[in-house]
Amino acid sequence: MEKSPLIEARGIHKRFLAVHALNDVSASFHGGEVVAVMGENGAGKSTLMKCLAGVYVPDEGEIRFEGQPVSIPSVNRASELGIAFIHQELNLADNLSVGANIFLGREPRKLGPLGIIDDAEIRRRTAVLIDQLGMQFSPDTRVSDLTIGHQQMVEIAKALSQDARILIMDEPTSSLTRHETDVLFKLVAELRAKGLCIVFISHRLAEVQEIADRVIVLRDGKNSGELPREEIDHDRMVSLMVGRDLNVHHSKQENSAGENVRLRVSALRVEHAPDEEVSFELRGGEIVAMAGLVGAGRTELAQALFGVDRVLGGKIEVEGEPVTIRNPRDAIAAGIAYVPENRKEHGAIVEMTIRDNVVMAGLDRYQQLGFVQQARHEQVAVEAKEQLNIKTPTVAKEVGLLSGGNQQKVVLAKWISLGPKVFLLDEPTRGIDVGSKSEIYEVIEGMAQDGAAILFISSEMEEVLRVADRILVMHEGKLAGELMGDAMTEERVMQLATGNQ
Ligand SMILES: Nc1ncnc2c1ncn2[C@@H]1O[C@H](COP(=O)(O)OP(=O)(O)OP(=O)(O)O)[C@@H](O)[C@H]1O
Ligand SMILES: [Mg+2]
Repeated sequence: MEKSPLIEARGIHKRFLAVHALNDVSASFHGGEVVAVMGENGAGKSTLMKCLAGVYVPDEGEIRFEGQPVSIPSVNRASELGIAFIHQELNLADNLSVGANIFLGREPRKLGPLGIIDDAEIRRRTAVLIDQLGMQFSPDTRVSDLTIGHQQMVEIAKALSQDARILIMDEPTSSLTRHETDVLFKLVAELRAKGLCIVFISHRLAEVQEIADRVIVLRDGKNSGELPREEIDHDRMVSLMVGRDLNVHHSKQENSAGENVRLRVSALRVEHAPDEEVSFELRGGEIVAMAGLVGAGRTELAQALFGVDRVLGGKIEVEGEPVTIRNPRDAIAAGIAYVPENRKEHGAIVEMTIRDNVVMAGLDRYQQLGFVQQARHEQVAVEAKEQLNIKTPTVAKEVGLLSGGNQQKVVLAKWISLGPKVFLLDEPTRGIDVGSKSEIYEVIEGMAQDGAAILFISSEMEEVLRVADRILVMHEGKLAGELMGDAMTEERVMQLATGNQ
């Protein structure tokens, strides 16, 4: 490609106090091209994108647009240049409708720019966009009533409505289903054909291989290398990202931790599917994966067990004792921990430090320690940081300032430090890089070996097959089946998940 790039970063530096997030990074992006930016959690991917999108101004270096040096001091300037940016942590107004979000601040109006907002026009244009994305919800739906996958689609619709020339998507697929991802990729291919430049960040190597024309890899804030289309393969991407080969051995163990039932759920009914009764057991030492299509009711089931959603009927026993769970406090007291799918909602409090987040769930316990509390907090948090390899100079840093993957690790750390008997994990590795994923599996396996029972909800087949001792599959609010041993195959999971026996 000899034409000058549409947008180009040259020798960019960006520092945040002790962190040199971008250290002499250069990257160029052309029209008609899909470029994947990859790297471990905290490598600097989001920071680079934010420099291109007017969120951050680089400390040093130059940005060129169509060959000319430009400064992009604001998001508005970026929009004027035709740069649309979809944040990793979605940026929607939860209490507004889909349409209101898409046209927020640039609402079509009747009778000129000072006229009243033309709701009918918003609805009409929103419906067209939603349809283009293959989605089914109404333009009037409140964003808070959508799944995160659908919220992601709203962000994409918003970017499309701006007629961007450069579309930057920071982990657009991490909360999408396979079907939604297919729809998105089809759209990306169409936009590429129209000459747009699409930049996207993903930790899913298979997806990158599928859609990217070129891969740019960052490591520790520096350029680590680039791969043209024909050189994109799993091993090359991994070695540029982590600088070593990963051992992806299956460390799954024959289960010896015993028969003791940690959690027994009998005829449980939840609001999501009030007519279905769900029953299953989790034993200590066991990792049970819960597979299913998005919307099958897995999250709702976990939320009911954790007291977030209402339990309508049935029985829950922890270690043989019946328990009543009306709220998360009851669940925690019973020894149940929950890592939510949506880390913003029930996960981390981003305005608080890593330390305070990590010890928050166990405050009652640490309070008993009286005056040694502070030191103990620090110690628990530092241990968690090391165990999960959270990338930060100090546990006194605000969680909101960490990279996305590292925020997810904080959510995990918070619950791990409680040492729960029953651990409900809902898509725990969303946004986590390949190397850290293995580390997280190891931590979870360690917890199982120490006797915890683990329910591992995941939509990533690879991961389900890798970590599970047993697989429960949900379909439309009920348990469609259970798979063990040789029956744990992708085909069987998909059959059950789609309602076939
Ligand atoms: N506003 C900020 N203040 C302080 N530190 C920051 C800020 N933004 C980013 N950082 C730090 O800069 C580094 C790079 O972060 P960045 O978000 O770019 O990583 P990333 O490659 O997007 O990672 P992930 O895959 O986890 O999303 C991290 O160490 C992060 O903690
Ligand atoms: Mg990021």
